[in-house]
Amino acid sequence: MRKFEVLFDEGEASPVEDAAYGPYGRLGFPPAPAARPWIFSNFAQSLDGIVSFKGKHAAGADISRSEEDRWLMDLLRAHADAVLIGVSTLRDETELGQRPRGPVFRMMDPELCRLRQKLGKRREMNIFVTGAATLDLSAFRVFDGELVDAVVVTTKAGAKRLAEKQTHPHPRVIVAGEERFVDLRQTAGLLRRELGIEYLLCEGGPTLYGYLSRAGLVDEKFVTVSPVEVGQLAPPEQEKSVADERNPSPYRPTTFNAPGFTVDNAPWWKWVSCRRVGEHQFSRYRRK
Ligand SMILES: NC(=O)c1ccc[n+]([C@@H]2O[C@H](COP(=O)([O-])OP(=O)(O)OC[C@H]3O[C@@H](n4cnc5c(N)ncnc54)[C@H](OP(=O)(O)O)[C@@H]3O)[C@@H](O)[C@H]2O)c1
Repeated sequence: MRKFEVLFDEGEASPVEDAAYGPYGRLGFPPAPAARPWIFSNFAQSLDGIVSFKGKHAAGADISRSEEDRWLMDLLRAHADAVLIGVSTLRDETELGQRPRGPVFRMMDPELCRLRQKLGKRREMNIFVTGAATLDLSAFRVFDGELVDAVVVTTKAGAKRLAEKQTHPHPRVIVAGEERFVDLRQTAGLLRRELGIEYLLCEGGPTLYGYLSRAGLVDEKFVTVSPVEVGQLAPPEQEKSVADERNPSPYRPTTFNAPGFTVDNAPWWKWVSCRRVGEHQFSRYRRK
């Protein structure tokens, strides 16, 4: 793996001295707020702001195509008490068929796993947000609990549906909201109070990220810009996938797929750091 060239970095010092930071340089975070976790996101996007080709190459890795980006994801996971993910990312990536029974969003780099331990973090945790709660949990490896702790956040109605349907010894369920829409502010408070989560990494997808940002809950974003142009409208010659049948929109998602902002309330961000590896750009922004 190549080293990151630091173009500038106005972020905090690392919480501990450790050789594992070597390829990247320092990485620290401000103290977490008292009532909810410090929430930071991580996305890889194309030059034109797209995060998925859709079709049979719908994963974030198809956009990033970078060993260093994969490593940075682990570095960020090392600093997070849990990873927050929308269920469509789990479902879409499972349907790509690259891993039987789908992905587990966990660290792979042994040096960074060691760093995570040194930082005093507990077992890795994946938290999935779903309002519909129609997933068959037994179809997904992540809910087996063998590699990470798994949590589902849903509404009262969703929790009822899950309880009626599941024979699986299903994961811990957190309830926030009534019918279809998970109350993300309430969720953030519950994750802090009930699970003790101080640092929460949102790995998307764009729908979950958009709703989180609209609720003012994203404190920071780590953005990898890949030197590739993708186009928002999937071309007619692109092969369709199972996920495309479920969601036939020809539009590929940008990082933000929820109702946005007006010119008066759009949030502006401080550009905290920028690194480079080859043609890839790794930036960090903090909400003002
Ligand atoms: N390039 C990257 O870095 C990157 C990162 C992540 C994902 N991706 C890609 O993005 C695509 C998936 O993105 P996506 O936007 O379709 O999906 P997503 O954000 O992963 O999941 C959306 C689903 O999450 C649930 N959800 C989110 N917010 C909710 C709320 N406030 N209340 C209730 N439910 C909520 C809903 O599930 P229910 O319908 O069950 O209610 C919703 O349909 C995949 O192709 C994935 O590979 C790329």
